[in-house]
Amino acid sequence: MQNIFAKTTFMQGVLNINKAPPDEGCEFVLAGRSNAGKSSALNCLAKNKKLARTSKTPGRTTEINFFKVTDEIKLVDLPGYGFSKMSLDKKKNLDILLDNYFSLRQSLRAAIIFMDIRHPLKNSDIQMMEFCNRHGVPFISVLTKSDKVSSSGISKATKDIEEKLDSQSVIVTSSKNDEGFDKLSKKIIKFLE
Ligand code: GTP
Ligand code: MG
Repeated sequence: MQNIFAKTTFMQGVLNINKAPPDEGCEFVLAGRSNAGKSSALNCLAKNKKLARTSKTPGRTTEINFFKVTDEIKLVDLPGYGFSKMSLDKKKNLDILLDNYFSLRQSLRAAIIFMDIRHPLKNSDIQMMEFCNRHGVPFISVLTKSDKVSSSGISKATKDIEEKLDSQSVIVTSSKNDEGFDKLSKKIIKFLE
């Protein structure tokens, strides 16, 4: 299968929705708690480890970062939520930015919500899912860091979450082992059809 993400390039990071690239084509937003592995997943989709900055320290991504996949498609890497060291002012700005982005962006097709397989479905994840529902944005649930748990741990976590999400399927990934990204690509591509 041809990797549509292979030529992904960084466009720009913005802190104000008015500065975002033109609202055209199809956009997919990467959301999740800080340190969940959003930026690492973006790099795995594009097979380019240097594309998005990743870090052990939570709060690495501080702006809405736009990446051009093709002329028609963009991926949008969001700062993580649930990062306690962020100042209240910054948090407030980020909330406004996300609210504006989800309300105004016509090209937004779906959100991809990344959760560490060891700590899935935290309150902030559920709030994010509700936020998507309120804005009429479908979401894809992804469990990250599967290399950190046993295969029985993976089955258990998947089953638990699918039950809690009313059988909506989740995709299990590992940026370390490059697992699950073909499946995620296919799921994203489905939104383009
Ligand atoms: P913020 O930008 O702070 O919101 O974080 P993020 O969600 O973009 O996380 P990032 O991709 O920067 O990854 C956080 C840390 O987890 C880094 O140290 C990554 O190397 C590590 N990590 C991400 N994905 C995986 C994975 O699948 N397996 C393992 N073992 N580590 C991972
Ligand atoms: Mg990041």
